[in-house]
Amino acid sequence: SSKCMVSPSLLGLFYHFYKIFANDIGYNRYGGIFMYIDEIYAARDYIQSRYKNPIDVAIVLGSGLGPLADVINEPVEIDYKDIPYFPVSTVPGHAGKLIIGEIGGKTVACMKGRFHFYEGYDMQKVTMPIRVFSALGIKNLIVTNACGGVRDDLNPGQIVIISDHLSFMMPSPLRGPNLDDFGPRFKDMTDVYTSTLRSLALESAKKVNVDVKEGVYCFFKGPQFETPAEIRAFKTLGADMVGMSTVPEAIVARHSDMKILGISLVTNKAAGLSNNELNHLEVMEAANSAEERLVKLVKQILEDM
Ligand code: HPA
Repeated sequence: SSKCMVSPSLLGLFYHFYKIFANDIGYNRYGGIFMYIDEIYAARDYIQSRYKNPIDVAIVLGSGLGPLADVINEPVEIDYKDIPYFPVSTVPGHAGKLIIGEIGGKTVACMKGRFHFYEGYDMQKVTMPIRVFSALGIKNLIVTNACGGVRDDLNPGQIVIISDHLSFMMPSPLRGPNLDDFGPRFKDMTDVYTSTLRSLALESAKKVNVDVKEGVYCFFKGPQFETPAEIRAFKTLGADMVGMSTVPEAIVARHSDMKILGISLVTNKAAGLSNNELNHLEVMEAANSAEERLVKLVKQILEDM
């Protein structure tokens, strides 16, 4: 083994440049986290070069919920691939565009296509767009998703306002050196889904006669769907819905005191609760068929905000 000995410091040097090359972050000694911040501000600057006015609300669209982006007035479309350091979407049903324009009298920046942990991105990359929104000065976030219904009364087609979440089986997107520009090391999470926005959404739903309920969303890392045993276990722990998104974004938005509204669309009963085998096509079809109601609801919410 002494024949192929490499000096430890030389290895360290290679590792240092590898880290920079891979844009990795974490507790590496050489500016890792500074690079992440630089990426966030570079992305912000690019978006500002394309759209100069203040933006009221950021919207993240879930699987099959993209059509909301089609009702944006005077849209400015920015491809993710043109935004420095932005990730790109790899999931069918998720386009890769940031669309800025007007809905319901509010200026919105709408993510058509989001990023998931299961795609292989780390949690910092998954939530980078939220950091960019915060850096742009956007104070409100509406985050949507397709989910599996766990609670007995949550059937396919049901729209649910997220009241709280379970996140303890996922790595935190706030792990690693704290981004002091955005928020504190230890952030309170008692009102992640802002109570005033939740009541507002319930009122808006009544106005447009769309049936909504409230529920607790439980994050699963995916990409495989849950097992029936997992669903039984987490039902006991208080999960009303299960899904593979939303919670990382909500935690990061909360870190910088954005107001958050989470809207889930139940696309299927969770594993073991019906005889159907779960698949992504079914999820997207169910999402598409609820599109009209969701668009109507979100439009009204934006008007009322
Ligand atoms: N589980 C996890 N994520 C999902 C589901 C589900 O049943 N349906 C839509 N997204």
